[in-house]
This record gives sequence, structure tokens and C-alpha cells, in this order.
Amino acid sequence: MSELIKVEKLVVRYGEHTVLDRVDVSLVRGEILVILGGSGSGKSTLLRHMVGLRAPEEGRVLLFGRDLYALEEEEREDTLKRIGMLFQSAALFNSLTLEENIALPLIEHRGVAPEVAAVIARMKLAMVGLENSARLLPAEISGGMKKRAGLARALALDPEVLLFDEPSAGLDPVTARALDDLILDLRARLGVGIVVVTHELGSINAIADHVIMVDHGKVIAEGPLADVRAMDNPVVHAFFAREAPHETVGERPIADLLREVGK
Ligand SMILES: Nc1ncnc2c1ncn2[C@@H]1O[C@H](COP(=O)(O)OP(=O)(O)O)[C@@H](O)[C@H]1O
Ligand SMILES: [Mg+2]
Repeated sequence: MSELIKVEKLVVRYGEHTVLDRVDVSLVRGEILVILGGSGSGKSTLLRHMVGLRAPEEGRVLLFGRDLYALEEEEREDTLKRIGMLFQSAALFNSLTLEENIALPLIEHRGVAPEVAAVIARMKLAMVGLENSARLLPAEISGGMKKRAGLARALALDPEVLLFDEPSAGLDPVTARALDDLILDLRARLGVGIVVVTHELGSINAIADHVIMVDHGKVIAEGPLADVRAMDNPVVHAFFAREAPHETVGERPIADLLREVGK
């Protein structure tokens, strides 16, 4: 099967600090890969190297079979346009409406006429359930809607791969759940490959086909979710053992709420 993304023995160092140590990752069409790991384990660093933001010290990143960091600048840019990334902050322009935010990459990167770009932008907004919010500014919408708008923008250039860095961070559980449903829906409708960094157990259970767990810069577990869950590794075990008693609704542990309602 041809891989959309193939990371081979990636080594990333900042000074003396080895952040990623011979990490391998692969993603195929239609697959949702979830990257797990504690804070500071190198998850965002891994995503950044998949979208060409920094060259690795060693190893290779192949996108659609092409060695990203060996390509000429122009070819590299064309290759990267086939990937859409939703950053944690959603990174929308505050002075532009949602429609203008999404039209912008079409006008800038594709030379699409503004009035056509506006129509496409509205289609992308409809895909994420924001068809009635096209004229609003980012400041006028909720956090969950901002994530959706950022996603609509990531979809502007019809990417074949979508990357999400902690998409549900800062969202309430209901909104986070809706975002998971949207991710599943996009995979079904577009057939794209998707990489999600998250440590929300609810999200992992809802969306992951395949997971990798990074710990101190190394991949310590990799495979289908059920296989990784069942692994006999203390770090993996601790990660998944954070279940129910510690899960929260808003700021409140579920266990407290259950006790209150007398269950
Ligand atoms: N630009 C940078 N310069 C130096 N150290 C960095 C830089 N980016 C990340 N790091 C370090 O790399 C490690 C992994 O960071 P990161 O990939 O953001 O972790 P995660 O996303 O898993 O929380 C951290 O120790 C962080 O301090
Ligand atoms: Mg991170």
C-alpha cells in the first residue's frame, strides 16, 4: 500500500537534547492515526517535521512518496499544499470574516478569482457545519466554532492528509465529542488520511484506528488501538489506566458527579 506519510528514523535535536530518537511513522489513505504521549514527549515536534517547518537532524520524511527535505523549494511547497494542518490555536485572521479567512489561501495559492473563492469558502464552511456563520469574525464565535473554522480553512485546498494538534484542548466534552464526529465524517466523505495528537481518552476511543505512543522521544508502542491497549508496558498501562475515576465533565471529576447523584 502506498503511504501518504512515511517518517523514517527521524532524529530531532535541540542542542544536547534529543527530542525524537529514530521515530518511524506511516499513514495510509483512509486511516486515522493517533499520536499519544505525555506533555513534552515530542508530539508537536513530530507534526512540525511532517509539514516542513524544520529539517530533521537525521532520517527522512516522505510525503506521497517524496522525500520532503530533499525536494527543491517549489516542489516542496507544492507537496505541502496537499496537507492541511489544524494548529492548536486555529490561527485565523481576526480582521477577516470566516469566509474571507478560507478564501484567502485559494486566492493566494491557487490564483482563484475572489468571487469563486468566496463560493468555495462557503462550501467548506458548510462541510464543518458553519454555513450560517460565513460573515462573522473570529471574535464573534465560540471556541468550538473557531476549531471548525480552522478546519474549514485546512480543507480549502482539498488536502489528501489532515493533521490535528490537540484539537479538543480547551473544549467542553460535548463540543469535543462533536469535533470527533466531524473528524470521522470527513474521513468517510473525503477518504483522507488523518493524524491526530491527543491525550483525551474519549477521543482516542472514538476515532483511532492505529495509535503510536511516544515517550522520551521514542516510539514505545505502535499498532491497532486494541493491541496497544493490551500491551504489557508500564507507561502504556499508566496512560490508559487514567480511565473513569479521573475523567472530568468540565472541571469536575466524573466520580464526584456520580457520587452527588447517588450512584
Ligand atoms: N524550538 C525548540 N527549541 C528547543 N526545544 C524545543 C523546541 N521545540 C520543542 N522543544 C522541546 O522538545 C520537547 C518536545 O516538545 P513538544 O514536541 O512540543 O512536546 P509535546 O507536543 O509532546 O508536548 C520539549 O522538551 C520541548 O521543550
Ligand atoms: Mg504539543
